[in-house]
Amino acid sequence: MKVLYVTSEAAPYAASGGLGDVMGALPREIANDGADVSVILPLYGSMKENFRREMKKYADISFNLAWRKTGASVFLIENSGVKYYFLENHYYFSRQKLYGEPDDGERFAFFCRAVVEFMLQTGNIPDILHANDWQAAMSVVYIKTEYSQIRELQKIRTVYTIHNIEYQGKFPTYILGDVFGLDAKYFGVVEYDGCINLMKGALTVSDYITTVSPNYATELRYDYFAFGLAGIINSVSGKMTGVINGIDYSYFSPEHGGDIDFPYGRNNLIDGKRQNKLALQRELGLPQNEDIPLIVMITRLAGAKGIDLVLRVLDELLFSTEVQFVILGTGEAEYENALRTIESNHPTKMRALIKFDRVTSKKMYAAADLFLRPSKSEPCGLSQMICCSYGTLPVVHGVGGLADSIKNYGEEGANGFVFADYNAHEMLFLIKRALDLYKDKDEWKKLVEAAYASDFSWHKSAGKYMEIYENLINW
Ligand code: GLC
Repeated sequence: MKVLYVTSEAAPYAASGGLGDVMGALPREIANDGADVSVILPLYGSMKENFRREMKKYADISFNLAWRKTGASVFLIENSGVKYYFLENHYYFSRQKLYGEPDDGERFAFFCRAVVEFMLQTGNIPDILHANDWQAAMSVVYIKTEYSQIRELQKIRTVYTIHNIEYQGKFPTYILGDVFGLDAKYFGVVEYDGCINLMKGALTVSDYITTVSPNYATELRYDYFAFGLAGIINSVSGKMTGVINGIDYSYFSPEHGGDIDFPYGRNNLIDGKRQNKLALQRELGLPQNEDIPLIVMITRLAGAKGIDLVLRVLDELLFSTEVQFVILGTGEAEYENALRTIESNHPTKMRALIKFDRVTSKKMYAAADLFLRPSKSEPCGLSQMICCSYGTLPVVHGVGGLADSIKNYGEEGANGFVFADYNAHEMLFLIKRALDLYKDKDEWKKLVEAAYASDFSWHKSAGKYMEIYENLINW
């Protein structure tokens, strides 16, 4: 079975969030299960020099996109049994940023067209084309529209995965022909609510749809979660399912994953974490005291991540309890500034690290007692699973994949703390309850061990994807 993943991110080559992590791990698992697996993505300006040196020139392709004659050079890296193809086009992708450019629509239309031309011009025709998020949506749409008469492509079965429905790829309708090179007769495929909506197009025409947790698959049927697409989701739900993501335990391991000051494992969870806490306190200039509970957050500073709940009660938490709070992330300026202000009011209790780097994030996972993830909605979420692998207890809002992965203290299989309503004080009271439990060393240790023992490996989920692919092929 040949599988081609179409994606705008794949760790370690290009990653700005969870999509990158998933595309860095799932293809490898599928290859381990015996499939012939490739991943195709743009070659960004930010690609590291050491990876550039590893790349081998594979092919040149050229094609027309609307009135433009254009093309790409294709480079290849083979890694862990997976072939990674990078599409180089300096005009569109030799930039530091992955997205957030004014011409994103044109850039990813080019990318998707290039993916289809790559398949045709190099003869790499997969059995399964698995496209991810809006940036890859047009690859499915092209196969099912402009290229639908081409025999070689007709046997491809397409899977489309929603990693986050908030980002749909919406554009004004007048660019259909000039930018996307799509004939007016296909307008209905991508039109939605007066716009071109690329995610809607892929949802409509792809053979199968997945999203990244079973609970999110259910939530997407409701307006509250679906960002305007509930009607479409309900109309395609017969070909849709939720498969929860896993995490990469070789990378996120307190024992073997590297980057932390004091590696530790199952036999010294509590002591190992305490040493890492002291090290982080020293590094950040916080009072060094292993008995003070440390709460951390590692997050994009965006509305959907529940930052407003945190800002609402953070002062109250820091004034009323003996606790330290460290947050790592970048995002909306309003949130960055509000966090800096609160930090300046609590210099011995809080650090707002307005940046992102993986080493610091791992040190925080290792050092913390509690990991806060109060997202308003969360398709899957990886960090609540990652923190468990470090024996750090998650405090989460029970939505999406958070509800699928974390069970509340007191319930069977508990591995953290879960609050039901999106309410700042409900979250605060739960944090305080957790801080009370922290004083009960035996009970706390049991819960830490349970979190650490949670199994979020990719193996089971990869098996579900294999089943989906096989069913589509035998269909
Ligand atoms: C998106 C979602 C996140 C999910 C990730 C990987 O970033 O917001 O919840 O874990 O994709 O699927």
